[in-house]
Amino acid sequence: MHTQTTIWLMAAALMMLGACGDAGDSADDDGNNGFVDNTPNNSANNDAVLEGPFESFAERPCPTDNILTADNFGAPFMANWCNGCHHSSLPAGTRAGAPIGVDFDTMDGIELYAEIIWLRTADQNEGMPPAGGPSDEERRMLGQWLACEFK
Ligand code: HEC
Repeated sequence: MHTQTTIWLMAAALMMLGACGDAGDSADDDGNNGFVDNTPNNSANNDAVLEGPFESFAERPCPTDNILTADNFGAPFMANWCNGCHHSSLPAGTRAGAPIGVDFDTMDGIELYAEIIWLRTADQNEGMPPAGGPSDEERRMLGQWLACEFK
C-alpha cells in the first residue's frame, strides 16, 4: 500500500517535470524554436563556425569576441617566426632567400602582404616559415588577427 502511493507520487512528479520541460520551450526567447543558429553573430556557436578551413582570406571571419591585437599577438608572432628572414634591416645575402622588401617588422609591411601572409601561413596554410614551427593554434590565431586587423 505504502509502496503504491510512493509510485503514484513519483509518477505525478515526473509528469510535472514534463510540464516544466514544455514551459521551458516556450521560454526559449531567441526566436528560433530551439534550432541552432549558425550565423557568425551567434556567439554560442562561434567556435564551430570559426574552425574553418576557409576558402580565402576574404572568407576568413573576425570573431566578435576577438581580443588579439598587434601588441599582444601580431608583432610578437612576426618577431618569433618571420623577422629572422623578413626584416627591413636585413640586406640581401642575410635573408635566407626571403625576397627584398617582403618585411614584416612594421604594420605597413604586414598590411601590404596581409592576404599573401594568410595564404602562406595562417589557419590551414603551412607554407611559412619554410621549416615550419608555429602550432595549429598559433596559425589559427594568426588568421584571426589578420582578419580582424586588416579587413
Ligand atoms: C628561414 C627564412 C624564412 C622565414 C623564417 C620565413 N620566411 Fe617567408 N620566405 C622565405 C623565402 C626564402 C621566401 C621566398 C621563396 C618562397 O616564396 O617560398 C619567402 C617568401 C614569403 C612570402 C611570399 C612573398 C611574395 O611576394 O610572394 C610570404 C608572404 C612569406 N614568406 C611570409 C612569411 C611569414 C608570415 C613568415 C613567418 C611566419 C615567414 N615568411 C618566415 C624565407 C623565410
